[in-house]
Amino acid sequence: MGKKIVMSGMRPTGSCHIGHWEGALKNWVELQEKYQCYYSIVDWHALTTEYQDSKYIKPNIRELLLDWLSVGVNPEKSVVYLQSSIKEITELFLIFSMITPLGWLERVPTFKEQKIQLKDRDLNTFGFLGYPLLQTIDIIIVRGNIVPVGEDQVFHLELAREIVRKFNNFYGNYFDEPMGFLTPIPKLPGIDGRKMSKSYNNAIYISDTTETIEKKIKPMITDTRRKRRNDPGVPEDCPVFALHKSFSSKHEMKEISDACRKAAIGCIDCKKILIKNINDFLEPFRERRKRYEKLNVMDILEKGNEKARETAKRTLEEVRELVKI
Ligand code: TRP
Ligand code: SF4
Repeated sequence: MGKKIVMSGMRPTGSCHIGHWEGALKNWVELQEKYQCYYSIVDWHALTTEYQDSKYIKPNIRELLLDWLSVGVNPEKSVVYLQSSIKEITELFLIFSMITPLGWLERVPTFKEQKIQLKDRDLNTFGFLGYPLLQTIDIIIVRGNIVPVGEDQVFHLELAREIVRKFNNFYGNYFDEPMGFLTPIPKLPGIDGRKMSKSYNNAIYISDTTETIEKKIKPMITDTRRKRRNDPGVPEDCPVFALHKSFSSKHEMKEISDACRKAAIGCIDCKKILIKNINDFLEPFRERRKRYEKLNVMDILEKGNEKARETAKRTLEEVRELVKI
Protein backbone atom coordinates (compact mmCIF):
# COMPACT_ATOMS: atom_id res chain seq x y z
CA MET A 1 0.00 0.00 0.00
CA GLY A 2 1.29 3.41 -0.96
CA LYS A 3 0.91 6.60 0.99
CA LYS A 4 -2.57 7.90 1.57
CA ILE A 5 -3.57 10.66 -0.81
CA VAL A 6 -4.79 14.07 0.32
CA MET A 7 -6.92 16.13 -2.06
CA SER A 8 -8.49 19.54 -1.66
CA GLY A 9 -9.45 22.54 -3.72
CA MET A 10 -10.44 26.18 -3.62
CA ARG A 11 -12.38 28.29 -6.06
CA PRO A 12 -10.46 31.20 -7.61
CA THR A 13 -12.99 33.83 -6.59
CA GLY A 14 -10.73 36.19 -4.61
CA SER A 15 -7.76 36.48 -2.31
CA CYS A 16 -7.36 34.34 0.79
CA HIS A 17 -7.92 35.95 4.17
CA ILE A 18 -6.95 34.80 7.64
CA GLY A 19 -10.12 32.72 7.79
CA HIS A 20 -8.88 30.62 4.86
CA TRP A 21 -5.60 30.12 6.68
CA GLU A 22 -7.26 29.04 9.92
CA GLY A 23 -9.95 26.96 8.24
CA ALA A 24 -7.95 25.18 5.55
CA LEU A 25 -4.49 26.27 4.47
CA LYS A 26 -2.89 25.63 7.84
CA ASN A 27 -3.90 21.97 7.55
CA TRP A 28 -2.88 21.75 3.91
CA VAL A 29 0.64 22.86 4.78
CA GLU A 30 0.93 20.39 7.65
CA LEU A 31 -0.43 17.44 5.69
CA GLN A 32 2.30 17.84 3.10
CA GLU A 33 4.79 16.35 5.54
CA LYS A 34 2.99 13.02 5.82
CA TYR A 35 0.99 12.51 2.65
CA GLN A 36 1.06 12.93 -1.08
CA CYS A 37 -1.15 15.97 -1.50
CA TYR A 38 -3.06 17.27 -4.50
CA TYR A 39 -4.26 20.86 -4.28
CA SER A 40 -6.46 22.11 -7.08
CA ILE A 41 -7.55 25.57 -8.15
CA VAL A 42 -11.08 24.67 -9.14
CA ASP A 43 -11.97 27.21 -11.82
CA TRP A 44 -14.83 25.16 -13.25
CA HIS A 45 -16.42 25.22 -9.83
CA ALA A 46 -16.04 29.00 -9.85
CA LEU A 47 -17.79 29.08 -13.22
CA THR A 48 -20.87 27.30 -11.81
CA THR A 49 -21.81 30.45 -9.91
CA GLU A 50 -19.81 33.15 -11.76
CA TYR A 51 -20.63 32.26 -15.36
CA GLN A 52 -22.46 35.53 -15.92
CA ASP A 53 -19.34 37.52 -15.09
CA SER A 54 -16.49 35.10 -15.63
CA LYS A 55 -13.69 37.54 -16.48
CA TYR A 56 -12.59 37.70 -12.84
CA ILE A 57 -11.81 34.02 -12.65
CA LYS A 58 -8.55 34.04 -14.61
CA PRO A 59 -6.72 36.86 -12.78
CA ASN A 60 -7.76 35.22 -9.53
CA ILE A 61 -5.96 32.00 -10.44
CA ARG A 62 -2.52 33.60 -10.15
CA GLU A 63 -3.55 35.43 -6.96
CA LEU A 64 -4.79 32.25 -5.33
CA LEU A 65 -1.67 30.38 -6.39
CA LEU A 66 0.55 33.09 -4.88
CA ASP A 67 -1.49 33.01 -1.67
CA TRP A 68 -1.02 29.25 -1.41
CA LEU A 69 2.69 29.40 -2.14
CA SER A 70 3.21 32.26 0.27
CA VAL A 71 1.72 30.37 3.21
CA GLY A 72 3.92 27.37 2.52
CA VAL A 73 2.10 25.10 0.10
CA ASN A 74 5.20 23.57 -1.42
CA PRO A 75 5.16 22.60 -5.11
CA GLU A 76 8.20 20.37 -4.53
CA LYS A 77 6.13 18.25 -2.18
CA SER A 78 2.55 18.67 -3.36
CA VAL A 79 0.89 18.64 -6.74
CA VAL A 80 -0.59 22.09 -7.24
CA TYR A 81 -2.70 22.34 -10.37
CA LEU A 82 -5.55 23.94 -12.27
CA GLN A 83 -8.75 21.93 -12.56
CA SER A 84 -9.61 23.07 -16.08
CA SER A 85 -6.19 21.94 -17.35
CA ILE A 86 -7.05 18.34 -16.55
CA LYS A 87 -9.52 17.47 -19.29
CA GLU A 88 -9.76 13.90 -17.97
CA ILE A 89 -11.93 15.33 -15.19
CA THR A 90 -14.68 16.12 -17.70
CA GLU A 91 -14.77 12.58 -19.05
CA LEU A 92 -14.90 10.98 -15.62
CA PHE A 93 -17.58 13.52 -14.68
CA LEU A 94 -19.62 12.44 -17.69
CA ILE A 95 -19.27 8.75 -16.90
CA PHE A 96 -20.30 9.35 -13.29
CA SER A 97 -23.24 11.50 -14.36
CA MET A 98 -24.77 8.30 -15.70
CA ILE A 99 -24.94 6.68 -12.27
CA THR A 100 -25.61 9.69 -10.05
CA PRO A 101 -29.30 9.96 -9.14
CA LEU A 102 -30.81 13.41 -9.58
CA GLY A 103 -32.44 13.13 -6.17
CA TRP A 104 -29.07 12.84 -4.45
CA LEU A 105 -27.92 16.10 -6.00
CA GLU A 106 -31.20 17.91 -5.40
CA ARG A 107 -31.19 17.18 -1.69
CA VAL A 108 -27.71 18.64 -1.06
CA PRO A 109 -28.43 21.53 1.34
CA THR A 110 -25.98 23.94 -0.31
CA PHE A 111 -27.88 23.51 -3.58
CA LYS A 112 -31.05 24.98 -2.10
CA GLU A 113 -29.33 27.48 0.19
CA GLN A 114 -27.09 28.99 -2.47
CA LYS A 115 -29.99 29.39 -4.86
CA ILE A 116 -31.76 31.45 -2.20
CA GLN A 117 -28.65 33.35 -1.09
CA LEU A 118 -27.38 34.25 -4.56
CA LYS A 119 -30.73 35.53 -5.79
CA ASP A 120 -29.07 37.84 -8.31
CA ARG A 121 -27.85 34.88 -10.39
CA ASP A 122 -29.72 32.14 -12.15
CA LEU A 123 -28.46 28.95 -10.56
CA ASN A 124 -31.13 26.78 -12.10
CA THR A 125 -28.53 25.10 -14.23
CA PHE A 126 -27.30 21.62 -14.89
CA GLY A 127 -23.74 22.68 -13.98
CA PHE A 128 -24.74 24.07 -10.62
CA LEU A 129 -26.75 20.98 -9.76
CA GLY A 130 -23.71 18.90 -10.68
CA TYR A 131 -21.33 20.93 -8.48
CA PRO A 132 -20.96 18.24 -5.80
CA LEU A 133 -20.48 15.51 -8.42
CA LEU A 134 -17.69 17.55 -9.99
CA GLN A 135 -16.15 17.85 -6.54
CA THR A 136 -16.39 14.08 -6.13
CA ILE A 137 -14.54 13.64 -9.42
CA ASP A 138 -11.82 16.09 -8.30
CA ILE A 139 -11.21 13.87 -5.32
CA ILE A 140 -11.39 10.42 -6.85
CA ILE A 141 -9.59 11.09 -10.12
CA VAL A 142 -6.36 11.46 -8.12
CA ARG A 143 -7.50 8.60 -5.85
CA GLY A 144 -7.88 10.93 -2.86
CA ASN A 145 -8.45 9.37 0.57
CA ILE A 146 -8.35 12.38 2.85
CA VAL A 147 -10.09 15.67 2.08
CA PRO A 148 -9.20 18.60 4.34
CA VAL A 149 -12.10 21.05 4.15
CA GLY A 150 -14.31 23.20 6.34
CA GLU A 151 -17.30 21.73 8.15
CA ASP A 152 -19.61 23.25 5.56
CA GLN A 153 -18.45 20.59 3.09
CA VAL A 154 -19.63 17.60 5.11
CA PHE A 155 -22.67 16.96 2.87
CA HIS A 156 -20.57 17.11 -0.26
CA LEU A 157 -18.25 14.50 1.20
CA GLU A 158 -21.09 12.25 2.27
CA LEU A 159 -22.41 12.44 -1.26
CA ALA A 160 -18.96 11.63 -2.65
CA ARG A 161 -18.86 8.51 -0.51
CA GLU A 162 -22.31 7.44 -1.67
CA ILE A 163 -21.47 7.93 -5.31
CA VAL A 164 -18.23 5.99 -4.93
CA ARG A 165 -20.12 3.19 -3.20
CA LYS A 166 -22.55 3.04 -6.07
CA PHE A 167 -19.76 2.89 -8.64
CA ASN A 168 -17.98 0.16 -6.68
CA ASN A 169 -21.20 -1.88 -6.50
CA PHE A 170 -21.68 -1.74 -10.25
CA TYR A 171 -18.16 -2.09 -11.50
CA GLY A 172 -16.08 -3.70 -8.76
CA ASN A 173 -14.34 -2.19 -5.77
CA TYR A 174 -12.06 0.29 -7.37
CA PHE A 175 -12.22 3.63 -5.53
CA ASP A 176 -11.64 4.15 -1.81
CA GLU A 177 -14.40 6.11 -0.12
CA PRO A 178 -12.83 9.50 0.62
CA MET A 179 -12.79 10.69 4.21
CA GLY A 180 -13.31 14.29 5.24
CA PHE A 181 -10.72 15.89 7.46
CA LEU A 182 -13.06 18.52 8.80
CA THR A 183 -12.01 21.79 10.38
CA PRO A 184 -14.53 23.85 12.31
CA ILE A 185 -15.34 27.00 10.38
CA PRO A 186 -13.34 29.59 12.29
CA LYS A 187 -15.49 32.21 13.93
CA LEU A 188 -12.89 34.80 13.17
CA PRO A 189 -14.11 38.37 13.51
CA GLY A 190 -13.29 40.98 10.89
CA ILE A 191 -12.26 44.56 11.58
CA ASP A 192 -15.88 45.54 12.24
CA GLY A 193 -16.49 42.75 14.75
CA ARG A 194 -18.73 40.80 12.36
CA LYS A 195 -17.63 37.45 10.94
CA MET A 196 -14.62 37.89 8.65
CA SER A 197 -15.82 37.73 5.09
CA LYS A 198 -14.88 39.15 1.72
CA SER A 199 -18.47 40.28 1.19
CA TYR A 200 -18.48 42.36 4.40
CA ASN A 201 -15.30 44.11 3.31
CA ASN A 202 -13.84 43.53 6.76
CA ALA A 203 -11.18 40.91 6.08
CA ILE A 204 -7.48 40.81 6.76
CA TYR A 205 -5.80 39.23 3.78
CA ILE A 206 -2.77 36.99 3.70
CA SER A 207 -1.34 39.39 1.11
CA ASP A 208 -1.98 42.62 3.09
CA THR A 209 1.07 44.89 3.34
CA THR A 210 2.27 46.55 6.55
CA GLU A 211 0.67 49.81 5.41
CA THR A 212 -2.64 48.12 4.66
CA ILE A 213 -2.73 46.52 8.10
CA GLU A 214 -2.12 49.91 9.70
CA LYS A 215 -4.84 51.50 7.58
CA LYS A 216 -7.29 48.79 8.56
CA ILE A 217 -6.60 48.66 12.29
CA LYS A 218 -6.06 52.35 13.17
CA PRO A 219 -9.61 53.52 12.44
CA MET A 220 -11.27 50.53 14.10
CA ILE A 221 -14.08 51.26 16.49
CA THR A 222 -13.29 50.33 20.10
CA ASP A 223 -15.44 49.91 23.19
CA THR A 224 -17.74 52.93 23.10
CA ARG A 225 -17.32 53.41 26.87
CA ARG A 226 -13.82 54.72 26.23
CA LYS A 227 -14.72 58.18 24.99
CA ARG A 228 -11.73 59.71 26.73
CA ARG A 229 -8.33 58.21 27.47
CA ASN A 230 -9.11 57.76 31.18
CA ASP A 231 -12.52 56.16 30.74
CA PRO A 232 -12.21 52.45 31.62
CA GLY A 233 -13.38 49.93 29.05
CA VAL A 234 -14.70 46.41 28.68
CA PRO A 235 -12.46 44.43 26.31
CA GLU A 236 -15.17 41.85 25.63
CA ASP A 237 -17.15 44.61 23.88
CA CYS A 238 -14.28 45.69 21.66
CA PRO A 239 -13.57 44.39 18.13
CA VAL A 240 -9.87 45.24 18.56
CA PHE A 241 -9.71 42.89 21.49
CA ALA A 242 -11.54 40.23 19.50
CA LEU A 243 -8.69 40.36 16.99
CA HIS A 244 -6.07 40.22 19.76
CA LYS A 245 -7.54 36.81 20.52
CA SER A 246 -6.30 35.58 17.15
CA PHE A 247 -2.94 37.31 17.01
CA SER A 248 -1.69 38.00 20.53
CA SER A 249 -0.36 35.70 23.21
CA LYS A 250 -2.42 34.75 26.28
CA HIS A 251 -0.03 36.73 28.40
CA GLU A 252 -0.41 39.87 26.27
CA MET A 253 -4.17 39.51 26.27
CA LYS A 254 -4.31 39.32 30.01
CA GLU A 255 -2.18 42.46 30.32
CA ILE A 256 -4.24 44.36 27.76
CA SER A 257 -7.54 43.34 29.26
CA ASP A 258 -6.49 44.32 32.80
CA ALA A 259 -5.07 47.61 31.58
CA CYS A 260 -8.16 48.42 29.50
CA ARG A 261 -10.43 47.90 32.51
CA LYS A 262 -8.31 50.30 34.56
CA ALA A 263 -7.80 52.76 31.71
CA ALA A 264 -4.09 52.08 32.08
CA ILE A 265 -3.64 51.65 28.36
CA GLY A 266 -4.99 53.86 25.58
CA CYS A 267 -6.74 52.44 22.52
CA ILE A 268 -4.04 53.81 20.22
CA ASP A 269 -1.34 51.86 22.05
CA CYS A 270 -3.54 48.80 22.23
CA LYS A 271 -3.98 48.95 18.46
CA LYS A 272 -0.23 49.40 17.98
CA ILE A 273 0.36 46.08 19.71
CA LEU A 274 -2.23 44.42 17.49
CA ILE A 275 -0.73 45.91 14.33
CA LYS A 276 2.68 44.63 15.31
CA ASN A 277 1.40 41.14 16.05
CA ILE A 278 -0.54 40.87 12.78
CA ASN A 279 2.51 42.04 10.85
CA ASP A 280 4.78 39.58 12.69
CA PHE A 281 2.35 36.84 11.75
CA LEU A 282 2.19 37.85 8.08
CA GLU A 283 5.89 38.57 7.64
CA PRO A 284 7.02 35.01 6.75
CA PHE A 285 4.20 34.86 4.17
CA ARG A 286 5.36 38.15 2.66
CA GLU A 287 8.95 36.93 2.44
CA ARG A 288 7.94 33.77 0.64
CA ARG A 289 5.60 35.65 -1.67
CA LYS A 290 8.43 37.98 -2.67
CA ARG A 291 10.59 35.01 -3.60
CA TYR A 292 7.84 33.39 -5.66
CA GLU A 293 6.86 36.63 -7.38
CA LYS A 294 10.31 36.69 -8.96
CA LEU A 295 9.66 33.30 -10.54
CA ASN A 296 7.12 32.52 -13.20
CA VAL A 297 4.51 30.97 -10.96
CA MET A 298 2.35 29.93 -13.89
CA ASP A 299 5.21 27.58 -14.87
CA ILE A 300 4.97 26.03 -11.42
CA LEU A 301 1.28 25.49 -12.04
CA GLU A 302 1.96 23.95 -15.46
CA LYS A 303 4.37 21.45 -13.89
CA GLY A 304 1.69 20.51 -11.38
CA ASN A 305 -0.85 20.15 -14.20
CA GLU A 306 1.39 17.62 -15.89
CA LYS A 307 1.69 15.53 -12.75
CA ALA A 308 -2.03 15.66 -12.02
CA ARG A 309 -2.82 14.80 -15.62
CA GLU A 310 -0.64 11.71 -15.46
CA THR A 311 -2.51 10.42 -12.40
CA ALA A 312 -5.88 11.34 -13.89
CA LYS A 313 -5.09 9.53 -17.14
CA ARG A 314 -4.27 6.34 -15.30
CA THR A 315 -7.51 6.46 -13.32
CA LEU A 316 -9.55 7.15 -16.41
CA GLU A 317 -8.01 4.28 -18.37
CA GLU A 318 -8.80 1.87 -15.57
CA VAL A 319 -12.34 3.20 -15.19
CA ARG A 320 -12.96 2.84 -18.94
CA GLU A 321 -11.96 -0.77 -18.65
CA LEU A 322 -14.20 -1.37 -15.66
CA VAL A 323 -17.17 0.32 -17.31
CA LYS A 324 -16.36 -1.48 -20.55
CA ILE A 325 -16.50 1.62 -22.68
N1 TRP B 1 -16.64 22.91 -2.79
C1 TRP B 1 -15.39 23.28 -2.21
C2 TRP B 1 -15.60 24.60 -1.45
O1 TRP B 1 -16.50 25.35 -1.76
C3 TRP B 1 -14.32 23.48 -3.25
C4 TRP B 1 -13.90 22.20 -3.90
C5 TRP B 1 -14.06 21.85 -5.19
C6 TRP B 1 -13.23 21.12 -3.26
N2 TRP B 1 -13.54 20.63 -5.43
C7 TRP B 1 -13.02 20.16 -4.28
C8 TRP B 1 -12.81 20.89 -1.96
C9 TRP B 1 -12.39 18.95 -3.99
C10 TRP B 1 -12.19 19.68 -1.68
C11 TRP B 1 -11.99 18.71 -2.69
O2 TRP B 1 -14.81 24.89 -0.59
FE1 SF4 C 1 -10.40 47.95 22.90
FE2 SF4 C 1 -7.86 47.96 23.54
FE3 SF4 C 1 -9.26 50.21 23.61
FE4 SF4 C 1 -9.68 48.33 25.41
S1 SF4 C 1 -7.78 49.49 25.11
S2 SF4 C 1 -11.25 49.44 24.28
S3 SF4 C 1 -9.36 46.48 24.21
S4 SF4 C 1 -8.79 49.01 21.80
